[in-house]
Amino acid sequence: MTARVPALEATGLSKHFGALHVTQNVSLSLPSGARTALIGPNGAGKTTLVNLLTGVVKMDAGKLCLFGEDVTGVATAVRTRKGLVRTFQISSLFAQLSVFENLFIAVTQAAGRSFSFWRPAGRASDLLERTQAIVEQLRLQSDAHHKVSEIAYGRQRLVEIGIALALNPKVLLLDEPAAGIPSNELDLLHRALDVLPADIAVLMIEHDMEMVRRFASEVAVLVNGALLMSGKPADVMSHPEVQAVYLGASGKKRFDEGAAAHV
Ligand SMILES: Nc1ncnc2c1ncn2[C@@H]1O[C@H](COP(=O)(O)OP(=O)(O)O)[C@@H](O)[C@H]1O
Ligand SMILES: [Mg+2]
Repeated sequence: MTARVPALEATGLSKHFGALHVTQNVSLSLPSGARTALIGPNGAGKTTLVNLLTGVVKMDAGKLCLFGEDVTGVATAVRTRKGLVRTFQISSLFAQLSVFENLFIAVTQAAGRSFSFWRPAGRASDLLERTQAIVEQLRLQSDAHHKVSEIAYGRQRLVEIGIALALNPKVLLLDEPAAGIPSNELDLLHRALDVLPADIAVLMIEHDMEMVRRFASEVAVLVNGALLMSGKPADVMSHPEVQAVYLGASGKKRFDEGAAAHV
């Protein structure tokens, strides 16, 4: 067997904010096709870890490789071009443009051209097709020509994922994709996650254990900035230390439901 180079390999990541040690010697490896969930209590440092991976926050120590290439000191935009993509926040969408227009802009940027309206229309046809493919992949056809500001919240969050997909991710980072989405709008998100290209490595931060159970083949637990453990969802979720440290009284019920549903 030849060992395949991980899509993403983070080694010994550390970060302080003043006296607060938010990321403590965290190592994480995602093979191509990974479906890994990162769980942990509020304030554990999950979002900070994503920010270190994308380069939005500069690490104090550690190393990051993408497909074996050291990108530790590389700018965020360059990491994105190399395929390390996080979902964009709703606040970064163009609220007054349609879903299709937002996605088209991202597709155009990813293709490395700026769209010009006086270019012969045929030259843009591949970009339009790619945009339409993303619309269909996310099942956003009925909202494609509505302004982002006018569509349901759950669908706005799908546009975030669509923009990330437009950038041709090889490693996709999702920070709480279900947060704030009413349960009657979650189906589309589940489906969107189900049809992500199989070879993309995905790291999903998520609180909802049912989401984790559905999505992840591997779970990593972050507590106080350090990795407590990682492993198969059923093993991690039933581990006494995870139950004790990760789950407060309020989380226990949801957690048990998720673990029970897994069996
Ligand atoms: N830019 C920052 N400056 C100072 N402290 C920060 C900054 N970003 C995050 N923190 C702190 O780091 C800790 C981890 O935050 P965060 O990564 O957002 O956790 P999580 O996403 O797991 O809830 C929190 O205590 C938070 O207040
Ligand atoms: Mg967070």
